[in-house]
Amino acid sequence: MGILEGKRLLVTGVLTDASIAFSVAKLAQEEGATVVLTGYGRLSLVERIAKRLPEPPPVIELDVQDTAHLDSLADRVGEHLDGLDGVVHSIGFAPQSCLGGNFLNTPWEDVATALHISTYSFKSLAVACLPLMKEGGAVVGLDFDATKAWPVYDWMGVAKAGLESCARYLARDLGKHGIRVNLVAAGPLRTMAAKSIPGFQEFEDSWPEKAPLGWDLADTVPAAKACLALMSDWFPATTGEIVHVDGGVHAIGA
Ligand SMILES: NC(=O)c1ccc[n+]([C@@H]2O[C@H](COP(=O)([O-])OP(=O)(O)OC[C@H]3O[C@@H](n4cnc5c(N)ncnc54)[C@H](O)[C@@H]3O)[C@@H](O)[C@H]2O)c1
Repeated sequence: MGILEGKRLLVTGVLTDASIAFSVAKLAQEEGATVVLTGYGRLSLVERIAKRLPEPPPVIELDVQDTAHLDSLADRVGEHLDGLDGVVHSIGFAPQSCLGGNFLNTPWEDVATALHISTYSFKSLAVACLPLMKEGGAVVGLDFDATKAWPVYDWMGVAKAGLESCARYLARDLGKHGIRVNLVAAGPLRTMAAKSIPGFQEFEDSWPEKAPLGWDLADTVPAAKACLALMSDWFPATTGEIVHVDGGVHAIGA
């Protein structure tokens, strides 16, 4: 018996097989879950990557900035699953001007895009899935520790601080539906999203050295395992929480 035996999951954010969401989907299937993916943009690419999973899942389109996609999400997921026990938000994006040391000059329009896709969408996705979560369940999002101002992360750091707050408010409002809302704060991982951050190398150079447990920049499995655990039956009374999967860096002074 896997820890997600019989669970029905919606996993967003698969872009390549280096995506954190790819590891989540793979391990979830290995642990007994039925998975549906959402894809953004190049759907054919996501479908090709999905074929590398143990059981290639259906891929449905979701641009979190598209209200029609969100409004129809429950119906479209409902064509494949009769309900949802877990939802994974593994979505982030910020225009280039938001990142890399340009903090004081970033225009609001670009910040607004970053917040819409990386922060507000956590709420949009959870609410869009609500009709399928009548028996309760778990929503998990991917975070990067927002308690500090990091080099180069800039407005994405602000977006993640908002995500952390958003998770707490969602936990407050969805608790009565039996839905737990938690975040996994991962250390730096070499994904497409990370490669688009100018100066990401600074994290790559320092993190493995600072982490008491060490840190593998190419291994998305530890973060994925935490997502699975939070969607399993083994965190029944935990909500509004942030689980750090960063080799321990958050606990250590600079
Ligand atoms: N890579 C890291 O170092 C790291 C560390 C901590 C947290 N995270 C977070 O993990 C999550 C997943 O990122 P990743 O590192 O696996 O990179 P990734 O590039 O593989 O995934 C990012 C995903 O966001 C999706 N996306 C972007 N705009 C979208 C939109 N409008 N609608 C729907 N989806 C959209 C992309 O299609 C992609 O699948 C993000 O929230 C990211 O901030 C990443």
